[in-house]
Amino acid sequence: MQENALFAITNGLYVLSAKDGAGFAGSLVDAVSQVAVTPYLVMVSCMNTSRTKECIEASGEFGISVLPKDIDPFVIANFGYQSSRDVQKWNNVAKVEIDGLPYVPEALAKIRARVVNKLVYASNTVFIAEVVDAFDSRPGEPLTYKCYRDGFKEQVAVAFNAYKAGRSAGQAACAAVAKTAPSAAAGQPAAKRWTCTLCGYVYEGDIPFEELPDDWRCPLCGVGKEMFELQ
Ligand SMILES: Cc1cc2nc3c(=O)[nH]c(=O)nc-3n(C[C@H](O)[C@H](O)[C@H](O)COP(=O)(O)O)c2cc1C
Repeated sequence: MQENALFAITNGLYVLSAKDGAGFAGSLVDAVSQVAVTPYLVMVSCMNTSRTKECIEASGEFGISVLPKDIDPFVIANFGYQSSRDVQKWNNVAKVEIDGLPYVPEALAKIRARVVNKLVYASNTVFIAEVVDAFDSRPGEPLTYKCYRDGFKEQVAVAFNAYKAGRSAGQAACAAVAKTAPSAAAGQPAAKRWTCTLCGYVYEGDIPFEELPDDWRCPLCGVGKEMFELQ
């Protein structure tokens, strides 16, 4: 099967938000569609590894921010290239909070939905959800997955690398302080896995990663094998 053929199916890009304890989780998603009119239903497909997916399961609701073409590339990097398990993503960008859920202020529309159904597959969980509110719609061109793949992702990578460089300077300082403390995790090191350094996708296919063809690409963000690292 040519996995690349599936990239011909293009969607918009959205920031999905959910409550996470006292804070919020958030994830970049493209797999969003309206699937019914009566009642108004949307579907969103989340990877099972996503923290936002866990938070939607726990809270039963989510927000969708429809991203415009002129969105700051860092917003994509912030929500798409790292997990809410590790970072308070909503502290890194501007947000508007409406009825207890955060949204991207520049969004072309903001939608709130309550989960009514769930389908669980090996890689993804699909939520069917009833729209309970839709607001702040404004004119503008939506950012599409195709636009992201056709060039915008390079700007996103630049924004993410600049952000990571800033963070690692801070982490290096913390590590220097922590060096004197004994390690709390003295167990076995976790098994290393080939991971996309751009979007975090973890390769778990049957063919050994090294034997994949040279033109193989990350099925999530489309970068080549050279962007994968054993982590
Ligand atoms: C262009 C792009 C599209 C993505 N589409 C989806 C998607 O439709 N569903 C999903 O669960 N993750 C998608 N992701 C991956 C998540 O945004 C990413 O794994 C994120 O780190 C998950 O964050 P979380 O653990 O805080 O939920 C996409 C990433 C990129 C870069």
